[in-house]
Amino acid sequence: MERLPGFRDFYPEPLPDAEAWSSSARRYIFEKWRSVATRYGFVEYDGPPIEPLELYTLKSGDEIVAQLYNFLDKGNRAVALRPELTPTLARMIAAHARNYKKPLKWFSMPQLFRYERQQKGRLREHFQFNADIVGEQGPGAEAELIALAIDTLRSFGLGSDDFVIRLSSRAAWQEFFIKNGGKPEDEYQFYQAIDKLERETEDANREKLKKLGFSLEQVYDFIKKAEPVDGLQAIIENLRARGLSEFVKIDYGVIRGLAYYTGMVLEAFDKKGEFRAIAGGGRYDNLVKLISKGKVDIPALGFGMGDVVLCELLKERKLLPQFKQTIDVYFCIEYESLRLESLSLIQKVRDSSYTVEYPLSSARYDKQFKRAVELDATWFIKLEKNSSGKIVAMVKNTRNREERAITPDEILNLLKPIPKNGII
Ligand code: HAM
Repeated sequence: MERLPGFRDFYPEPLPDAEAWSSSARRYIFEKWRSVATRYGFVEYDGPPIEPLELYTLKSGDEIVAQLYNFLDKGNRAVALRPELTPTLARMIAAHARNYKKPLKWFSMPQLFRYERQQKGRLREHFQFNADIVGEQGPGAEAELIALAIDTLRSFGLGSDDFVIRLSSRAAWQEFFIKNGGKPEDEYQFYQAIDKLERETEDANREKLKKLGFSLEQVYDFIKKAEPVDGLQAIIENLRARGLSEFVKIDYGVIRGLAYYTGMVLEAFDKKGEFRAIAGGGRYDNLVKLISKGKVDIPALGFGMGDVVLCELLKERKLLPQFKQTIDVYFCIEYESLRLESLSLIQKVRDSSYTVEYPLSSARYDKQFKRAVELDATWFIKLEKNSSGKIVAMVKNTRNREERAITPDEILNLLKPIPKNGII
């Protein structure tokens, strides 16, 4: 049976073919996400993968609502698989904002589902690193969040030649919209048109803007001038002090498709422009208020970084490490009569946190040795009986090829000084 289109199987390494998704690469990405977020003082949270449909129809915006995996559950509730995490976060904050000291710095790595047309960089399921700051008004929060996005990408070995964070401002666009006679009821449609500028033909863009009372030239002119509003200037100065300003540029060509953004917005792209956005986010000061039906009013901002584009980019730049399973100990069972004694020791060695592999059923010695080499075991151990019938452990350090015969009790003492191998 085939898997559903737009979904992925994650295989262990070595991969069955070049197209397969690697569970080791996924783990590598998750570990980096988690470690940089933790370094920045963010704490982890999560919500349910299914939410009431209404959570998304309230304010996410037409595009994402059209892509919902939604259905009636057996209790006749209209529900949806989560297409993004921000509404869930807003719901969680609305319920318990009072229990936490502000500002909150929270991160999560949910799997999200969007019923969209499958294409390069876009699937029907992806994992997304979300980092959000809640309860902070000033541009210091924006800069902290952008620095986190930059350092996350840098942690994978990507540099300022590889990616850029395009910074823009919904507030600047709103001012432009109002100053040039835009009607309040057209505001979101106008943002949608700007969001699509780079993806649609010039004629389609011109037509759409004309209907809203704008000319394409007027819009291009505003983008080209890229005059930083105050907030953006402060963000850039903050990032300059950290030595990170080379990673950002003001670019009003970005506006974001999601409806809830209110201030600064950002999108991270590869510099060669070969991939879709790696990350996107912004300030959304009214979403918690909207979701709590006016009960909780708290400013917030955040970004989401998807694993699909990131993984494609890392592959293309050859920045993914070689993933290979390695172990600490291969416990060879050459004589089946010593299997039970061997198992007792294997258990002890594993209890001491070493990774141990051994044959589950009788196997030839040379096959076992080959497997130990494949697994790059640091130690090769086997039990045997000496001439006086006593059980001894033959312990070989495969790194320096030293072999010693010791009593089984001494095994753990001998292993101790060796640094632990990781396993994947
Ligand atoms: P978004 O721009 O919809 O934002 O998604 C963020 C990132 O997730 C995108 O830049 C892209 O890398 C990845 N992504 C989105 N959809 C797909 C897909 N179908 N397949 C693969 N990757 C995808 C949000 O979701 C906001 N909720 C982010 C946010 C957090 N804003 C504030 N806090």
